[in-house]
Amino acid sequence: MDNLYLGYPKRQGSPPDLNHLLYLYTMEAISSIHIESTPRSRINDVDISKALFGSVATDHMFVADYAGSTWNNSQIKPFSNLSLSPFALALHYGQTVFEGMKAFRMHDGSISLFRPDKHYQRFCRSLERMCMPLVTEELFVSALHELVSIDRQWVPVGEDSSLYLRPFMIASEAKMGVKVSDEYLFMVVGCPTGPYYSKPLRLKVETQYIRSAEGGTGYAKCGGNYGGAFYPTVQANHQGFDQVLWTDGKENRYLEESGTMNVMLITGNTLITPPLSFTILDGVTRDSILTMARDNGMDVQERKVSVDELEQVLASGKNVELFGTGTAAVIAPIKEISIGESIYSCYIGEDSTMYSLKQQLLDIRTGKAEDLYGWNYILA
Ligand code: COI
Repeated sequence: MDNLYLGYPKRQGSPPDLNHLLYLYTMEAISSIHIESTPRSRINDVDISKALFGSVATDHMFVADYAGSTWNNSQIKPFSNLSLSPFALALHYGQTVFEGMKAFRMHDGSISLFRPDKHYQRFCRSLERMCMPLVTEELFVSALHELVSIDRQWVPVGEDSSLYLRPFMIASEAKMGVKVSDEYLFMVVGCPTGPYYSKPLRLKVETQYIRSAEGGTGYAKCGGNYGGAFYPTVQANHQGFDQVLWTDGKENRYLEESGTMNVMLITGNTLITPPLSFTILDGVTRDSILTMARDNGMDVQERKVSVDELEQVLASGKNVELFGTGTAAVIAPIKEISIGESIYSCYIGEDSTMYSLKQQLLDIRTGKAEDLYGWNYILA
């Protein structure tokens, strides 16, 4: 991935003041957003503490459009359907990129965006891979900041609850020919959510279909990566599994990701996860968990893990914790895994290290623990 130009502007500053600096830069950009408030909020029509992931939109959305090589018309308006030509390039050739991030209600009542700087950097890497124009960090964060401010009532209270935010970009030019679009929409929408998975997962190690290959788009958060995963996932669902555990595209030998999550395993004081590559998404939760685990004194190994090695450790009788990490899922424990004809159980107990890491992360996000890393962007 080193050959890819990361065109996003670099800011000066280091933790813990990184996201505070970002806040100051963002204040200037906010004034250029035109705001049209909804005449009637829907907040009393729903119980946001019970909202299932992705089912209820907040009152507003952010939209900016790109034409003539510039971003124009930044606005927040009532959540509504889009008007798009059936010729719009995104609908045919898949030029779409998205991010998934969260805003949390902190224990003092304030609201925090979690690691917007890191999400912005990944958004830029995805856009670049899909030949789409970058947005500035100020536009990205001011859109989130203003949308969450105007819809702040939609940020639920409760440790496992949050406002899931979906910044995304689509190619909107109306042209049937196969080409890079000259026009785009950049939008942010949000939905209140509780836990993404309600129970520990059963996984199937997938060795027939692949999610991504070297040189492909696996590290980018583009729509096609998700569409292409549906068929193998539905096959696994029919066989009684919740998700697939992807293996590499060349030999089907090494673990990659699980469903829409990065995957990790813990035995004793050692945490192992596949290294970032062209085929693996640079998960923000992945990075947060690895950072905390290292600082907790764990032996963190980012290295290739073969299916054989996983099978050996699962068969060894040791306690093995296996889990997925992701913005939506946070930490999703895996209870069973099928490798070939065999089914193995993974360790899930109250004393599981994955649960203490999850709690540590929640405590930082909700302000119960000190934010030593500068991960929280606090809205005033
Ligand atoms: C996320 O965790 O934000 C994801 O992108 C996973 C899924 C909801 C698409």
